[in-house]
Amino acid sequence: MSQSLPSTTLVVFGISGDLSHRYLLPALAEICRSSDIKSRLMILGLSRRQIAGADILTKTTAGLASQLQILQMDYENPAEYQKLKTKLGQLDCDQIIFYFAVPPDAVLPIVQKLGEARLNSSKYKLLMEKPFGADLASAKKLVAAANRHFDEDQIYRIDHYLAKEMVQNVAVFLGSNALFRHVWDNSFIDYVEIVVAEKIGVEGRAGFYEQTGALRDIVQSHLLQLAALTLMEPCPHDYDFSDLPQRRLAALKQMSVDKRHLAQTLVRGQYRGYAKEVGNPSSLVETFVALRLESADPRWQNVPIYLATGKKLDQKLTQIRVNFKKDSQSEANRLTLRIQPREGIELELWVKQPGYERRLQKRSLSFNYEQDFEERLPDAYEQVIVDAIRGSHSLFAGSQEVLESWRILQPVLDYWRRQTDAPRLYAPGSSVEQVLESAPPPKS
Ligand code: BG6
Repeated sequence: MSQSLPSTTLVVFGISGDLSHRYLLPALAEICRSSDIKSRLMILGLSRRQIAGADILTKTTAGLASQLQILQMDYENPAEYQKLKTKLGQLDCDQIIFYFAVPPDAVLPIVQKLGEARLNSSKYKLLMEKPFGADLASAKKLVAAANRHFDEDQIYRIDHYLAKEMVQNVAVFLGSNALFRHVWDNSFIDYVEIVVAEKIGVEGRAGFYEQTGALRDIVQSHLLQLAALTLMEPCPHDYDFSDLPQRRLAALKQMSVDKRHLAQTLVRGQYRGYAKEVGNPSSLVETFVALRLESADPRWQNVPIYLATGKKLDQKLTQIRVNFKKDSQSEANRLTLRIQPREGIELELWVKQPGYERRLQKRSLSFNYEQDFEERLPDAYEQVIVDAIRGSHSLFAGSQEVLESWRILQPVLDYWRRQTDAPRLYAPGSSVEQVLESAPPPKS
């Protein structure tokens, strides 16, 4: 693989931070271990504090030692960017990728200073983590500010769900199987349910979560992207992903929430103990949200798309469930695209129960990645880094997709701003169904 790749320096702002420690460095270590990319990849870790490479490498990431250099830098001081420029000038490589493992509000000031220091020629790329704004207006400002210094094709906005193996398979599966391709519309499909359920809570990220909540954290990015992949025009069967962002964008453009019926279709929940955990007894922040989307695309009219996500639920589960219509002659079938865990696909079928009577039973046909393939599933972060190095945008969220997803959710944000009822409280360990069935909070 490496011969075809440009030689790269990955510059990591915040190399000693949590994001870099938990996701980036392990993914880099795995890529370098399992491919021949290592000889063409240098890592320049930036830190405000004086640290050494050995301080941040662990047993899992120790293999990166020979590629890692550290530079101490004050990100707020424009003069320090000249020091960075001199350092980068000494490195011999084809491209330089800036990655931001710093708090969200620190990103844009750094991007601006990179631009002002002229570290923005076509040799440079930005690899950015969400959140990309907190509502439509702030997302527009962020996009405009980044585009002031960098062209859109220099910017890679990570939505790590897009890079999950089974999420890529959604696009491939729907494009490649005639059986499903031909029934993928409102003549055959009744409704779609997409769930991102987590067992973990906010894991000490109180400050971040109080600013964010489940709608901004999961729905705006991961859930809407899963909905877009499900509803988009299927890919051509040659697996060419290059126009995937345009296909997802076209699907997003057709989606909206039903503004007139938000009170009936929107659920805002919070797990018991959250408010105390984050030290804000009056917190209205949602750790659970469920909502209904609709699409104006003639292929999808009258097919409700139900989205739900929550923390501290009974299980970790991400899946897309497509419910086919029943008719007067036959029963309804269900297709489940399981994103994680137990990545795979399951189709429910009706069969005759053995015996003298004619009775139907539901059974399933299934495919499971772990059982059916020997290869390990790469972690999404590995794919993200490899694709940024390759210059492939297909598994990243483009600025227009980000703006469309905020456009879809803005009515929900506006509704919540006006309506100050407490979220419905649910017991940690509840299932999605239990939260949905629980009583709404009393009117204040
Ligand atoms: C992140 C969210 O984008 O996705 C986290 O900020 C969430 O709150 C995480 O826990 C879930 O990712 P995964 O890959 O574990 O499903």
